[in-house]
Amino acid sequence: MQDIIEFEGYRFHSLWLRDNCPCSECRHENGQRLHETWQLPADIQIEECSETETGLKIRWAAPHSHEAIFSYEFLRRHAYDKPHTNDSTAALWGGEFNLPEFGYQQVIRDAKQRLEWLDAVEKYGIARLTGVPTQPGMILKVVELFGFVRETNYGTLFEVRTEEKPQNLAYTPIPLSLHTDNPYRNPVPTLQLLHCLIKAEQGGVTALTDGFKAAELLREEDPAAFALLSTETVSFRFSSADADLRHQGRMITVNPQGNITNIRINNRSAAPFQVSFDNMADYYRAYHKLMTIIQSDRCKITLTLDEGDLVLFDNERVLHGREVQAIGTRHLQGCYADRDGLRSTAAVLRRNN
Ligand SMILES: [Fe+2]
Repeated sequence: MQDIIEFEGYRFHSLWLRDNCPCSECRHENGQRLHETWQLPADIQIEECSETETGLKIRWAAPHSHEAIFSYEFLRRHAYDKPHTNDSTAALWGGEFNLPEFGYQQVIRDAKQRLEWLDAVEKYGIARLTGVPTQPGMILKVVELFGFVRETNYGTLFEVRTEEKPQNLAYTPIPLSLHTDNPYRNPVPTLQLLHCLIKAEQGGVTALTDGFKAAELLREEDPAAFALLSTETVSFRFSSADADLRHQGRMITVNPQGNITNIRINNRSAAPFQVSFDNMADYYRAYHKLMTIIQSDRCKITLTLDEGDLVLFDNERVLHGREVQAIGTRHLQGCYADRDGLRSTAAVLRRNN
């Protein structure tokens, strides 16, 4: 009797194996689990374990007798008896970066190109599509290529152009410091699209920074500042005639493995900081340092969107801003969408390619 077995140097618990039994009694043909994990006997023992041509055969002992074959590939893929590694697929970029570019026509015609475009967004947090027809509303067609629009109080899509009484500074021609959008929502929209319909005669330069890169630089150069921004929470707020949104979060979120997973920065909508009294002065210093890195040429790239250009970016990673005041008419349309849809579409495309 064993409650642990070993395969290619990796240990597996009897209960874990029983829980992941692939037989038709335990798994529906759609792959979903049929039994209740929490109702399995915790002390279930293995009576026999042998290698076969198709996989590892396991027989559990009475009174919970059961039998299954685990494919070797499954065991290798799910082996958990090893140290956790950094599984982030993000490739960080700085001031020298050239946006990956894809042609709209190729992306709609060729599934392989579409996958490369979505993979680039996953890897770099951003990619540019060129040649998107400049009819209003085309941005929604682009979202349909990979997911679903995230509708908000700004509508299905929003217009970025000069308005007479703007409810948001985005609808004025003035420069905007680098930011992520809508940190006052919960959950925050994870993807943003901006489509240029009419380019300004002058100015209207877009600035972009990889927030993960900037946060990594801060971690290297000032670990104490990084620690403050990734532990203390601050509030963000947006209020208009028909909305009152607020949400609290960290400017930098780090997962238990130490990987940076989200950035939340927005000067316009940050509410009065409420970090602890003892940390307040240091928090301001840390914020100043991070923003200085974000705005520096080490991190920031600038570009002018041409008519028909559309940038798709991760709104919890890539910060965007407007560098130079736009002169003359400039018209962009924007909308939000979510990363899970993009990842799912990419995974399905990968399956078929
Ligand atoms: Fe924005």
